[in-house]
Amino acid sequence: MQYFPQMFDETAQVALLAAARLVIADAPLFAPTMPRSGNKMSVRMTNCGPFGWVTDKERGYRYQPTHPMTGKTWPPIPPSLLDLWDEVAGYPLPPEACLINYYEGQAKMGLHQDKDEEDFSAPVLSVSLGDTGLFRVGGRSRQDPTRKLELKSGDVVVLGGEDRLAYHGIDRILPGTSDLIAEGGRLNLTLRRVTKPK
Ligand code: SIN
Ligand code: FE2
Repeated sequence: MQYFPQMFDETAQVALLAAARLVIADAPLFAPTMPRSGNKMSVRMTNCGPFGWVTDKERGYRYQPTHPMTGKTWPPIPPSLLDLWDEVAGYPLPPEACLINYYEGQAKMGLHQDKDEEDFSAPVLSVSLGDTGLFRVGGRSRQDPTRKLELKSGDVVVLGGEDRLAYHGIDRILPGTSDLIAEGGRLNLTLRRVTKPK
C-alpha cells in the first residue's frame, strides 16, 4: 500500500470535484443493493470509464459498460485521473473503470476485498474529496489485524502488489471536516483495471 497525503492541492481538488459533478450529471448516483439480501448499501455510487462496478439483488457484484438506471454508457474518466494513474500506478495500460462512491451522514463501507476484476496485476488507486473518511486496512485474510488511516480531501491511496487484495473499508466519515463539497459528505474515486491484457 502506498499513501500520498495531499496529492491534490486545493485548486486540483476543486477541478476534480467539478469533473466528478459533470460525471454525476450524466450518470446519476444510484443506490446499490447487496446480492441476495437486496439490502441497500449506505453509499450512493456511479462510475466513469469503459466499465463501471454495479451491484443489485438479482445479479450481484459485476462490471458493466452501462448505467443500471439510464442504460447509457458511462462518461469518460477525467483526464486528471488518467494523468494520476500514469504517475503512480506503475502499470502500462490505462484504467478501465472509475467507481465514484458518495458518503453522507452515517454512510460507511464494510471491510471487503476488491476482487471482481479479471486481473490483479494492476493496482487500485483511490482519491478522496470532501469530508475526512476513517479508512481501515488489513491484510489478505479477513482475520488479519487492521490499521486505521484518516483519508482527507486530496489524499491518494494505492493498493497494489502484495496489498492488491488487502481487506479495506470505511468505518465512517467525519461530517463538517471539509468545505470542498457544499452539500457536505465525501466522494471517493477509485481507478481500476478490469480485463486481462490480451
Ligand atoms: C472502496 O473500497 O470502494 C471505497 C474506499 C473509500 O471510500 O475510500
Ligand atoms: Fe474497495
